[in-house]
Amino acid sequence: MPIRSGPCPTLETERLILRPFRDEDVDDYFGVLDTSEVRRWLHLPAGLNRSNAWQQMAVFLGEWALRGTGQWALEERSSGAFLGRAGLYRPEYPDWPGVEVGWTLHPDHWGRGYATEAGAEAIRYAFEDLDLDRIYSCILPENEASQAVAVRLGMELLEERTMDFFPSAPHGIWSRAR
Ligand SMILES: CC(C)(COP(=O)(O)OP(=O)(O)OC[C@H]1O[C@@H](n2cnc3c(N)ncnc32)[C@H](O)[C@@H]1OP(=O)(O)O)[C@@H](O)C(=O)NCCC(=O)NCCS
Repeated sequence: MPIRSGPCPTLETERLILRPFRDEDVDDYFGVLDTSEVRRWLHLPAGLNRSNAWQQMAVFLGEWALRGTGQWALEERSSGAFLGRAGLYRPEYPDWPGVEVGWTLHPDHWGRGYATEAGAEAIRYAFEDLDLDRIYSCILPENEASQAVAVRLGMELLEERTMDFFPSAPHGIWSRAR
C-alpha cells in the first residue's frame, strides 16, 4: 500500500534533501534527540523516549496537514544520511509570535553549515511559496549556536520575553521580514 506523505513538499538544496518524515525515521530521529547535546539545548525531559520521538514525527506531519507548515526531515544528498530536522513551526500557543523557522541536527553533523542551508530554504519556502511577510525564531539567550544560525540567516533580535510553554526563562524573539 503506498504511503501518502500529504502536504509536506520535498525540496532540495545544494547539499540537502528536505523531505517529509517517514515511519522508518523513528530510530534515526530518536538518535538525534537522545544525544546529550540535543537533550541539553532543547531542554528535553530526561524520560523522553523513542515513543515520544515518534509522537513528535506524527505532530510534524499533522502540522503540515492542518496548517501547511511543519518540519522536514533532513538528509545529506551525498550519503543519504539522516541529519535531523528543520522547518516551520506554528503551534497552538496564544503567545507564540508567528511562523517560526527552527533547526536541530545530530551533533555529528554540526559545524558544516547544514542548519543554515536548511533554514535558508525553509525561509525561502515561507516567503515565496506560503507568501508570509515575516518569520520568527524563538531562541534561549544562552543558545549561541542557534543564535548564530539566525544571524547568518539575516534575522534580528526583536525582544526577549517569557512564553507560557517555557515559564522558567525568557526566549529571544528573532525575526526577519520578507
Ligand atoms: C543549532 C544547531 C542546529 C546549529 O548547528 P551548526 O552546525 O552550528 O550550524 P550551521 O549548520 O549553520 O553550521 C555553522 C558552522 O559550520 C561551519 N561551516 C563549515 N562548512 C561550511 C559550509 N560549507 N557552509 C557554511 N558553514 C560551514 C561554519 O563556519 C560554522 O562554524 P562555527 O560554528 O565554528 O562558526 C545545532 O547546534 C543544534 O542542533 N543544536 C541543538 C538543538 C538546538 O538548539 N536547536 C535550536 C533551538 S532554538
